[in-house]
Amino acid sequence: MNTAGLAEAAATASAWRKEGLRVGLVPTMGWLHQGHISLIRRARRENDRVIVSIFVNPIQFGPNEDLDRYPRDLERDAAFCREAGVDVIFHPTAKEMYPEGFQSSISVAALTQTLCGRSRPAHFTGVCTVVGKLFNLLRPERAYFGQKDAQQATVVRRMVADLNMGVEVVVCPTVREEDGLAVSSRNVHLDAAERRAALCLFKALSSAREQVAAGVRDAAVLLGGMRAIIASEPAAAADYVEIVDPDSLLPVGRIEKKVLAALAVFIGKTRLIDNILLEP
Ligand code: PAF
Repeated sequence: MNTAGLAEAAATASAWRKEGLRVGLVPTMGWLHQGHISLIRRARRENDRVIVSIFVNPIQFGPNEDLDRYPRDLERDAAFCREAGVDVIFHPTAKEMYPEGFQSSISVAALTQTLCGRSRPAHFTGVCTVVGKLFNLLRPERAYFGQKDAQQATVVRRMVADLNMGVEVVVCPTVREEDGLAVSSRNVHLDAAERRAALCLFKALSSAREQVAAGVRDAAVLLGGMRAIIASEPAAAADYVEIVDPDSLLPVGRIEKKVLAALAVFIGKTRLIDNILLEP
């Protein structure tokens, strides 16, 4: 396994394609965890070569967000990648990705104006721009994303379809700690008390699932229950708690088909997201 900058990674991927090898890409911002590892393992099973990109993409962070404190440790990540059978880590510099004069972007409209897009208005344009660049540079057959970032996965699928990018987007299940907390690079910021408080996200989602199983179909009732659970945790402040259609990401009133219950909650200074699919 080697770690490559922009020109080398693009040349390697191009040589593989010429040999007829299928390339799987796992885009990440590093500080890898079991969620990433599950994406890498799936990519390993389904492709001849696997590239993991590690790039903390500055343009997807807003001015008061956590770009500076986003955890970074390339050696630690490389050990995970080696163990999981990655062929190349693509680790570009910000200058390589956004050289002087850079001024293009990819925006997806309505899907990015709900949920996280409301409090992070430039976020998905930053994500789509970097993912579009990764796809153009490496031309993978498949790219792997986690269901934990459900809105990101929906937006990337839309971009790929709208712009005929010809990459298969594979979305893999959320990986959780034993007590239900979704694994996330940002969990590293939680102290012991915040770690306990962070469980309110999974509790809120689980309560919605239990209520649906018990026959509740009114989204307002489910949302009331979820919001009460978040509100009862003193260290938590909800950014949003919503029940939406998983394709349009628009709010639904009644649970008549599969819906997405999604939330973003600040635990202290750390903003966590999670979601669950609910089926009547
Ligand atoms: O999900 C992430 O880690 C990032 O948003 C991604 C897809 C790697 C783009 O920077």
